[in-house]
Amino acid sequence: IREDPTTVGDYIANYICKRINEFEPTPQRPFVLGLPTGSSPIPTYKSLIALVKEKKLSFKNVVTFNMDEYVGLPRDHPESYHTFMFREFFSHIDIPPSQVNILDGNAEDLISECKTYENRIKEYGGIELFLGGIGEDGHIAFNEPGSSLASRTRIKTLAYDTILANARFFNNDISAVPRMALTVGVATVLDSREVVVVVTGQRKALALSKAIEDGVNHLWTLSALQLHPWALIVVDEDATAEL
Ligand code: GLP
Repeated sequence: IREDPTTVGDYIANYICKRINEFEPTPQRPFVLGLPTGSSPIPTYKSLIALVKEKKLSFKNVVTFNMDEYVGLPRDHPESYHTFMFREFFSHIDIPPSQVNILDGNAEDLISECKTYENRIKEYGGIELFLGGIGEDGHIAFNEPGSSLASRTRIKTLAYDTILANARFFNNDISAVPRMALTVGVATVLDSREVVVVVTGQRKALALSKAIEDGVNHLWTLSALQLHPWALIVVDEDATAEL
């Protein structure tokens, strides 16, 4: 538990920095990092960018896989996760664009896009560290309530609550929010050697308490982390309101 979103972001960025720096990459086995979108990870991204500028960290030997992407939103739409990631993070660090992997929500064959994504992760030897965020309904990536805890990368219809929550990014126009997304599955996240989740703000307090104080439950998919041997949830004071 840290005081506020900025200190949470600094903590996670320093944590990731340490992991990347102590890892010994080879061309066959770079550091594979899973990444989220949303407002919660922005302070972490800012802090990671600062570490790169200070030359304490480099992403030259890092390969990234993003958690999810909307279906049918043009890639250059200001709210696509592709645009978000380059605007908030990738354009400010030294990662070669060829080492960035983001699901293509406009692929002609969405099912094969998901399969290829899973295979690409496997080819790299799996994900070393998955950084995640959660929705107010406790979803990790876009694994909405009711998702199978054995799920892999797939197409997911968004829950109405998620559409409402994300309307703020679409001028509060609910009809403009995509109805579907591609997302890594709960099992894809659980397969990562380490998972770090950022949870900030009172809006997330109920989800946090359900996920860590109740049992493992597919209605609050973050709770699946209780099954993971190496999971860390970093929260601010406001998010602890229901604990
Ligand atoms: C979306 C993303 C999630 C993210 C969530 C939280 O639903 N698919 O991966 O965790 O937003 O967003 P925020 O951090 O803005 O609350």
